[in-house]
Amino acid sequence: MPYAAGVDVGSTQTKAVIVDGEGRIVSRALKDTGANVVTAAEKAYNAALQASGIREEEVLYVIGTGYGRYKVTFGDSQVTEISCHARGAVNMFPKTRTVIDMGGQDTKAIRIHENGEVQDFCMNDKCAAGTGRFLQAASFALEIPLDELGATAMRATRPVQITTTCTVFAESEVLSWLERGKKIEDILMGVHRSIGTRSVSLARRVGIMSEVTFTGGVTRNQAMVDVLAELCGCPINVSEDSHYMGALGASLFALDRLQANQGAS
Ligand SMILES: Nc1ncnc2c1ncn2[C@@H]1O[C@H](COP(=O)(O)OP(=O)(O)OP(=O)(O)O)[C@@H](O)[C@H]1O
Ligand SMILES: [Mg+2]
Repeated sequence: MPYAAGVDVGSTQTKAVIVDGEGRIVSRALKDTGANVVTAAEKAYNAALQASGIREEEVLYVIGTGYGRYKVTFGDSQVTEISCHARGAVNMFPKTRTVIDMGGQDTKAIRIHENGEVQDFCMNDKCAAGTGRFLQAASFALEIPLDELGATAMRATRPVQITTTCTVFAESEVLSWLERGKKIEDILMGVHRSIGTRSVSLARRVGIMSEVTFTGGVTRNQAMVDVLAELCGCPINVSEDSHYMGALGASLFALDRLQANQGAS
């Protein structure tokens, strides 16, 4: 059986997905991107191969996406992450009309046409205040692991109002709230609301239409899922594979190319 793969080399984490000839996910893997982007792509891809027992020769087309897409040295071609997140989201949730991708460095909002194609998109430029980086700064300042941030924030009773618009100052604002005796959960919920508000105002620039699908690593944070749903005023699609949405989209484009090549030969 021929397979296709997508490797999403993000600024923070690198994701690899392998799909079978029907476009079903057969394997996926995640590695921190770190300083060596080429190695991160190789490690994530090899981990996905190993987890599935599929040999490299059986994967007939590989597409790279994400900020490091040109560093996927074993890739056959590249597709932008906007296209890949949109493709993954529509594949998993066919009625998707708006995609919000929150990654480590960027937040992107994409409007999808009824026919499933990208109609418009925009992204936060330069400023990381609406992204996972802001959460990472809070996690560092409060000494709470990233994967416990959401659950902690959800215990908030009186969320504080975070006013900083810059990740560089987030840590000192968080610490100053602590000094003033605020509870960690109330500070954290303030951080989530601040990021959520920025992301939703970005999404309003392309227009928020139901169904809204949330992609990227921050989907693992339930507090952010809840905050986005509240601010958008509608339920938000998320799945266990949402962190892999860009890599899934890339693998589906790879499958298209593979099938087109096979049809031509
Ligand atoms: N287990 C987890 N729990 C909570 N948050 C998480 C978890 N894993 C990752 N994240 C969040 O996801 C972010 C990384 O997401 P993602 O992999 O989508 O980013 P990326 O694609 O590398 O970045 P970008 O798209 O901006 O280049 C981290 O910064 C962190 O905030
Ligand atoms: Mg990304």
